[in-house]
Amino acid sequence: MSERVIPSNPMIDSFGRRITYVRLSVTDRCDLRCRYCMAEKMTFLPRKDVLSLEEMVALADIFIARGVKRIRLTGGEPLVRKGIDELVPQLGKRIGSGLHELTLTTNGTQLPRYASMLFEAGIRRINVSLDSRQPERFRHITRRGDLGQVLAGIEAAAEAGLKVKINMVALKRLNEDEIGSMLRWCGSQGHDLTLIETMPLGEVEEDRTEHYLPLSEVRERLAREFRLIPSLARTGGPARYYEVEGLGVRLGFITPLTHNFCDGCNRIRVAATGTVFGCLGHDQKVELRDLLRTGGGGAVTRALDELLAGKPRGHQFRIEAARPAVERHMSVTGG
Ligand SMILES: C[S@@+](CC[C@H](N)C(=O)[O-])C[C@H]1O[C@@H](n2cnc3c(N)ncnc32)[C@H](O)[C@@H]1O
Ligand code: SF4
Repeated sequence: MSERVIPSNPMIDSFGRRITYVRLSVTDRCDLRCRYCMAEKMTFLPRKDVLSLEEMVALADIFIARGVKRIRLTGGEPLVRKGIDELVPQLGKRIGSGLHELTLTTNGTQLPRYASMLFEAGIRRINVSLDSRQPERFRHITRRGDLGQVLAGIEAAAEAGLKVKINMVALKRLNEDEIGSMLRWCGSQGHDLTLIETMPLGEVEEDRTEHYLPLSEVRERLAREFRLIPSLARTGGPARYYEVEGLGVRLGFITPLTHNFCDGCNRIRVAATGTVFGCLGHDQKVELRDLLRTGGGGAVTRALDELLAGKPRGHQFRIEAARPAVERHMSVTGG
């Protein structure tokens, strides 16, 4: 293990923030159609527009050489990417040689098949999205999901030795009455729980303001039922944490509409197309795909420097904002 790898050219933005965390979307595709995330009828990107597995590994190596310590694989649904069982072990080999941690955010449907592979590749913690534990409701929110399959996936993950954190998007009238029972269930299963406020990302048919539920309200309600002890734990991300007395659950709240976490922002995100965004709430970006295909490492490094120079201080969302389809599948949340 050579954990003390000192990057020769660390990624530091113009506000002095060091970038050590990358969210890498490995596909725009998904087997579900969650109402707040995707349209019912999706047109996915042609294959040639998406980075190959080799290009993703090459890009990860560039990031690691420049001081990235944590990579989170996301999507779309990362486990439906063809060749994911080659990509994850490849990236896993970097753990201990610059990379400290490889993690994944998944909807859980493919975990019965892949949980052991993830553990063997060196992943120790995953986020699994679960907005309801009621089969009909789960199907309604995801438009097609089979709750049993996801619960089997979560069990397979725990059996394989993976620590599971549940991500639940808090949705007015859709699952708000289930948050307390989800917290108790997480306690009984040994999972942590993070609640996410809906964000105005992507074009979906639904009017998202209709299901917008401020987490401040959720926290007040939960505090009537549970003793929430503020925790100092921070992950360098947008979540604020509480310990739930008696349950042994760490409860996180991600409120992306407030920009209270921008000062310590250590992250950038990469779309499956190789577009790299400096911030969730801005369009500031650089395109790395063609540079990776033709330009080599020097051109990629220069483009990343350009991104860092322009990385915005913070984000500003408007609840009604909609963003182009290609950006839809990358979220700063658990995803
Ligand atoms: C985009 S998904 C990608 C990974 C995987 N498919 C999953 O569902 O976990 C990552 C996370 O973003 C959340 N998410 C997606 N769209 C969102 C939105 N508009 N507002 C808030 N969270 C959202 C999902 O619930 C999920 O927890
Ligand atoms: S939230 Fe995840 S599972 Fe749901 S549609 Fe979006 S990418 Fe798919």
